[in-house]
Amino acid sequence: MKRIAVFASGEGSNFEAIAAACERGAIAAEVALVVCDRPGARVTERAAARGIACFAFAPKEYASKADYEREIVARLDAVGVDLVCLAGYMRILSEVLLGAYGGIVNIHPSLLPAFKGAHAIEEAVAYGVKVYGVTIHWVDATLDGGRIIAQRAFAYDGDDVHEVERRVHEVEHELYVETIDKLVKA
Ligand code: GRF
Repeated sequence: MKRIAVFASGEGSNFEAIAAACERGAIAAEVALVVCDRPGARVTERAAARGIACFAFAPKEYASKADYEREIVARLDAVGVDLVCLAGYMRILSEVLLGAYGGIVNIHPSLLPAFKGAHAIEEAVAYGVKVYGVTIHWVDATLDGGRIIAQRAFAYDGDDVHEVERRVHEVEHELYVETIDKLVKA
């Protein structure tokens, strides 16, 4: 059985979708570890409710990014992880993590390379976008860069940010589950 780690900073709805899919066999893997850079974030409660180990840390308690990433690598090594999935982890990775793990993927709520960054949905709505979507990509040292693995689009002609968010999340939860399952089987 392949083992995956999910990194998240906040709500953790993608973590929930991934963990549920692992449990019902829709992803041929198990979630071995959740990594969270905001102790107390909702995702840490979700991990606890599912009995999944969680490493929650406060970056400011470390001297540098390299220091906390070394700690993360040690935790990943301790459980033995085949694939790292970023799901709302709001930090750029350094060479410490990128060098230690060949396979790190991320999900982003836009059709990359459009609307990189933390406010993709709001910016797309403000721009008057008519075709929205979700991207899953390999992670490199740049913001929402890295080669694209999968994308899924939907049409929406309106200006309700909450409605776009709702539909983006729906697509994310489906596409991330399908894509992770393919990756762990590859
Ligand atoms: C998702 O929209 C993801 O694309 C972005 O952050 C959000 C995380 O949502 N990177 P959640 O924490 O999984 O609910």
